[in-house]
Amino acid sequence: MPATIIMGGQWGDEGKGKLTDALAANATMVVRANGGSNAGHTVQTRNGTFKLRLVPSGILNPHVRCVIGAGVVIDLGTLVSELRGLQDRGIDTSGMTISDRAHLVLPFHKRLDELEEKRREQDEIGTTLNGNGPAYADKASRHGLRVCDLLRPEILRRKLAIEVDAKNQTLAGVFGDPPLEFQPLYEELLELTEFIRPMVVPTEVVVQDALQAGEQVIVECAQGAMLDIDYGTYPYVTSSSPTAAGACQGAGVAPSQVESVIGVYKAYSTRVGGGPMPAELLDETGELIRVRGREWGVNTGRPRRTGWFDAVAARQTSRLNGVTGIALTLIDVLDVLEEIGICDGYRVGERSISHVPALLDELDGATPALTFMPGWSEDTSAARSLAELPPNALAYLAAIETRLGAPVQYVGVGPDREQLIDRRQK
Ligand code: IMP
Repeated sequence: MPATIIMGGQWGDEGKGKLTDALAANATMVVRANGGSNAGHTVQTRNGTFKLRLVPSGILNPHVRCVIGAGVVIDLGTLVSELRGLQDRGIDTSGMTISDRAHLVLPFHKRLDELEEKRREQDEIGTTLNGNGPAYADKASRHGLRVCDLLRPEILRRKLAIEVDAKNQTLAGVFGDPPLEFQPLYEELLELTEFIRPMVVPTEVVVQDALQAGEQVIVECAQGAMLDIDYGTYPYVTSSSPTAAGACQGAGVAPSQVESVIGVYKAYSTRVGGGPMPAELLDETGELIRVRGREWGVNTGRPRRTGWFDAVAARQTSRLNGVTGIALTLIDVLDVLEEIGICDGYRVGERSISHVPALLDELDGATPALTFMPGWSEDTSAARSLAELPPNALAYLAAIETRLGAPVQYVGVGPDREQLIDRRQK
């Protein structure tokens, strides 16, 4: 029963969408496991660029059935406009299913996300302001509304009225914000529900049936494992588990059904929002990487912070998630560099730290312990096999394999669908 998990090994934006799209060619199902419209998965094909937020990145493969699993939080308006946008571009979305257990992101979640960020002032997390944190908080505190509630107007009316009332007390009482109106929100939800109604099913049954039938199922995570709520750089994390374990939970797949875990890593590091990043490059090399890697947020347009490959963080995510194979993306971005750094530890005063500490204050003033490798000063964007890569690029791949304890199976050499090396390709 072969399930493959595709997860980000850093702070998100590693190119999971592109890899999922490519591997979906040999799969029958792609299940999105976590996150919400905070994600932005870009897939570039001959028919143009597709920016997906909630729809699984297998959708551009007509034979693939796409599933939004129970672990995802859904902003219904965003999902419906994303589906309509795909249909307008001729993409067949008839194979889509949506978990009836998935929780909803409602307008008060977005507003609370904004207000809470403002209240944190200089300690802001730098969330995407999509309401994900407050929606997952409601899920955990058992206040959440779910997709199944949408299908029964009377149930929706009752639960939504309670929540709007409770949230208005917080909005007005804590933040002095005007109250949200119940009726227009209720009516909007009812209208949007008609669009997704045929897609709503118990997806865990659909996924299990596919696995039992021996189908190739890909589980796609959003974000990256360093943003994991438990093992990431808390509190500068997202509110779900973008990990192999979280993928199982969110998709409705048992750990014993997983055949491989592909950890997607960029050849360097990026992160958006706050939080420590000891290997950050604040100089012109960082800017060069940002420009060459087009490192601006897909949804937010925010410039991403850039840095050398952080092998401390990457080794942690590789080990904790049992990564069986690495997809190293965007190596072409490094083509012009004379030397390339790998961060092998953090130095704080006299101390040397070789893991990501729970208390981030321990990283105050940390500097990276860097190992430099010679660059390859050659265009790699046309390479389609490992044999076509320059020797110094292969040495860089080997250095990462050693540190992460897993083989590099895929190498990304550009944004196009075709610019992906599969190790098995001679
Ligand atoms: P939230 O998920 O919107 O609550 O944001 C929490 C943290 O996760 C912030 O640092 C965001 O920048 C980051 N984040 C959330 N989604 C993504 C993503 O898809 N790519 C990269 N960072 C993300």
